[in-house]
Amino acid sequence: MMRNFITTRDWSRSELQDILDYALTLKAQPFQPLLKNKSIAMLFFNPSLRTKTSFEIGISELSGTAVILQPGKDAWSIEFKDKQVMDGEPEEHVKEVAEVLSSYCDCIAIRAFPKFIDWELDRTDHVIKSFAKYSSVPVVNMETIEHPCQELAHLLTLQEHFGTLEGKEYLLTWTYHPKPLNTAVANSSLLIASKFGMNVTLLCPSESYHLDKRYLDAANENCSNESASFNISYDIAEAYAGKQIVYAKSWGSLENYGDASKQSKQNNQYKNFIVDEQKMGLTNSAVFSHCLPLRRNVKATDGVMDSDYCLAVAEAANRKHVQKSILSKIL
Ligand code: CP
Repeated sequence: MMRNFITTRDWSRSELQDILDYALTLKAQPFQPLLKNKSIAMLFFNPSLRTKTSFEIGISELSGTAVILQPGKDAWSIEFKDKQVMDGEPEEHVKEVAEVLSSYCDCIAIRAFPKFIDWELDRTDHVIKSFAKYSSVPVVNMETIEHPCQELAHLLTLQEHFGTLEGKEYLLTWTYHPKPLNTAVANSSLLIASKFGMNVTLLCPSESYHLDKRYLDAANENCSNESASFNISYDIAEAYAGKQIVYAKSWGSLENYGDASKQSKQNNQYKNFIVDEQKMGLTNSAVFSHCLPLRRNVKATDGVMDSDYCLAVAEAANRKHVQKSILSKIL
């Protein structure tokens, strides 16, 4: 059966653990011809350093072929709405794009951030869902409104550090950034930490920064299934106290979605959410991580980033191994 990798919600915990276990095998033995005669089209609607590099090199290490396309730049711009009179910018419809790429390639991978205009539309994840609808090969999410590859790299890094993760005290903290950013990694953090049985706390400046209800509900449900706890805090000292894992991400308030200026002004009130040594000192000797890219001394201090408890680079390195494992499984 053809299997997409769009969200970890479609994969059971044991299936995800199989991917993580196999990622460790590939980490130990990186060069294997598992994707020989296979090709993957990677469509980037947004910039990337880690995702682009780790996928392309990982595919090469498995003897596969990667084709990188940037619609609207080096490839034609794409229309996603049905029944359109296409007399605007897009030159072709996603239906033909997905069908043509499916005829050449064995997998289509997509990076398509939300447009930051209308969350009700963006939360449908319509770009990658359109590719999944019209493609006859598996579709992989390289970050849309979730970032499932980052999730698995995060988990692998934590499992390497701690072994079992059940019952670990996990904090996802909002952190300051001058611009309103995507909620994808934060959504993903809640999904994966709760699925693997950690006691999860979401720290954000106010209710205005709550993540979409879909992810809060999923975290609640997962934690309940795993006999773990999920709570939301607005109190920095209380939230950091006793934590073993601190994961940081900035995002724009969904309440003011579509108004970047208002979101930025709102963010500017909460520069004190930066992750610093004093806050990390409140934890139970926690490790710190972030998906990267990260603005130093804005989101986290040099002291935190250069500490021996910072796992951000190890997590980025693990992207390659988990993605190779995902592609090996679905192809
Ligand atoms: N974390 C991550 O996806 O990095 P890039 O945006 O550089 O790909």
